[in-house]
Amino acid sequence: MPAQVKIAPSILAWDLADLGRAVEICVEGKADMVHLDVIDGHFAPNITFGPGTVKALRKKCDLPFDTHLMIDSPEAYVAKFLDAGSDVLTFHAEVLDGARFDRLHSEVTRAGKEMGLAIRPQTELPPWAEGRLDKLRTLVVMTVNPGFSGQTMDTGVLPKLERLSALVREKGNGTEVEVDGGVEPENARKVADSGADVLVAGAGVYGKNDPARAISRLREAAGGRGEPS
Ligand code: DX5
Ligand code: ZN
Repeated sequence: MPAQVKIAPSILAWDLADLGRAVEICVEGKADMVHLDVIDGHFAPNITFGPGTVKALRKKCDLPFDTHLMIDSPEAYVAKFLDAGSDVLTFHAEVLDGARFDRLHSEVTRAGKEMGLAIRPQTELPPWAEGRLDKLRTLVVMTVNPGFSGQTMDTGVLPKLERLSALVREKGNGTEVEVDGGVEPENARKVADSGADVLVAGAGVYGKNDPARAISRLREAAGGRGEPS
């Protein structure tokens, strides 16, 4: 039986006029963290919300905020998202190199927060990132193209997920592998078996009739117990 997976609901899939409720659902459904998708209209073809929204939502709950920055210029915004109350700041490998990663990592850890690194479905982990896996709280393997909730998972990414999760076990330091995009009860087991520790789910939570219950259903579908670990 796979280890208990964590569930990170992506609030982008909820009514954007009512994001406070999206966060309450995470609390009611005992999510492990809240996934916040920040998109700048450059890195990916959508514009979502920024640090002001994250800060306002921060008052609604104590769950860790897992902020996924799909933005071209992370250096310009890292301080603002740290100040807004993000606990894990995830940057995209496609817009970084080793030196930029190191500078961002210093800034994030100086603030007492943790760092994640994400890759698009078509992106291989760059060589500079391999030697830095121990600096990551999370490696985010995207299974849809960044931009929108509600897309179908690209299962062609699963062999890469298996490879990377083995690498993370070897070279990480408590680093978790997070899968983001198109996670549903029907594929959660396969994704967990391929090495995911954390499942991000937008439509897989908020698209269901009872979103709070959908959180534990996803954990169960992934082969674990309904309760958080
Ligand atoms: C895509 C985002 C994802 C997405 C997840 O740009 O990073 O977090 O909103 O939503 P679903 O689970 O509906 O694909
Ligand atoms: Zn995301």
